[in-house]
Amino acid sequence: MAKQFKKIGVLTSGGDAPGMNAAVRAVTRYALKMGLEVYGIYEGYQGLITGKGSIKKFAPHDVANIIDKGGTMLYSARCVEFKQEEYIRKAVEVCHEFGIDGIVTIGGDGTFRGASDLCRYGIPCIGIPGTIDNDITCTDNSIGYDTAMNTVVEAIDRLRDTCESHARCNVVEVMGRNAGYIALETSIAVGATAVVVLEDPNYDEAALIEKIKVARAAGKRNFVVIVAEGVDNYSEGLAKRIQAETGVETKFARLAHIVRGGSPSLADRVLAARMGVAAVDFLLEGKENVFVCERDGEMVATDIQEAIVIDKLYKSSFTPGMEPPAALANYSPERQAEMKAFCEMRAAEVKELLAISENCASYK
Ligand code: F6P
Repeated sequence: MAKQFKKIGVLTSGGDAPGMNAAVRAVTRYALKMGLEVYGIYEGYQGLITGKGSIKKFAPHDVANIIDKGGTMLYSARCVEFKQEEYIRKAVEVCHEFGIDGIVTIGGDGTFRGASDLCRYGIPCIGIPGTIDNDITCTDNSIGYDTAMNTVVEAIDRLRDTCESHARCNVVEVMGRNAGYIALETSIAVGATAVVVLEDPNYDEAALIEKIKVARAAGKRNFVVIVAEGVDNYSEGLAKRIQAETGVETKFARLAHIVRGGSPSLADRVLAARMGVAAVDFLLEGKENVFVCERDGEMVATDIQEAIVIDKLYKSSFTPGMEPPAALANYSPERQAEMKAFCEMRAAEVKELLAISENCASYK
């Protein structure tokens, strides 16, 4: 018999992402329709630790007129205390005080670790991937990714105009923490001369310099090089070296948190609504400790623990200093082989995007 939920909480955690509000709205409206009580938890997991004053019983009007708003009306915080057992226990006590018997957590990989901690103490959680980085390995898309990429494209299209006028190069650093997805897809969309991401083991700066020289000599006037922020301490120096070694005047732009704001795109609003409804359905079906993934256009439930292992397994394949997860050994050889194959599939997708970006920007 599936657990009967009466009261659920909803929170947003980690870096905010456009579309989080659309997800909060979908969870709230649908859960209320299904007869549940809904509690908005403000300031992420910090709100659960604080309790009274950070938790509000929601009615339908509490999530009105937010679908088009960037950021998160529930606010967010990176709650370092939530790594300590005493604070997790405090959060569980607060859930019991309010009678909250399930929580929908919206955020990135750190959010899912917090959710899995609450699950350990018997508070079922359903995660919704909300991060502009799109670096939740098990889902094809996370909420905020599409909007962030469109923001980057609009900014770089503007930079290209002025580079064309003045025959300049612009090196642009974009967010994504350790994942290069924003850089990769936007490099294709803006026709960047090159893209630099951690996931590319074959990146060759000398070849980039030569490419700019050849293209400039052939009359090309504008050059854009996109660098993912995960490539540490690289982008600004590259701009200086391009100017020094090619003679092309080179500027530098770090888009930083501009990429995090703005009204969510249609794609993110629809994804958020689909994931919000799916999260409530999973709770009502008695699914616990899973998160909502988009896979080939479908909403599927993925075990949070497995998702964390797969995430670390994939990221450790290209992130300097990141070790594969020890928890991988807890799974059967067959399941481990499936996890590795999934990570190889993700790596192949990145390789294809890199090839498309390079092939369409060839100047040979
Ligand atoms: O995870 C989303 C993200 O925007 C990353 O792309 C970025 O590196 C990080 O958050 C920035 O964190 P903060 O907003 O805490 O500075």
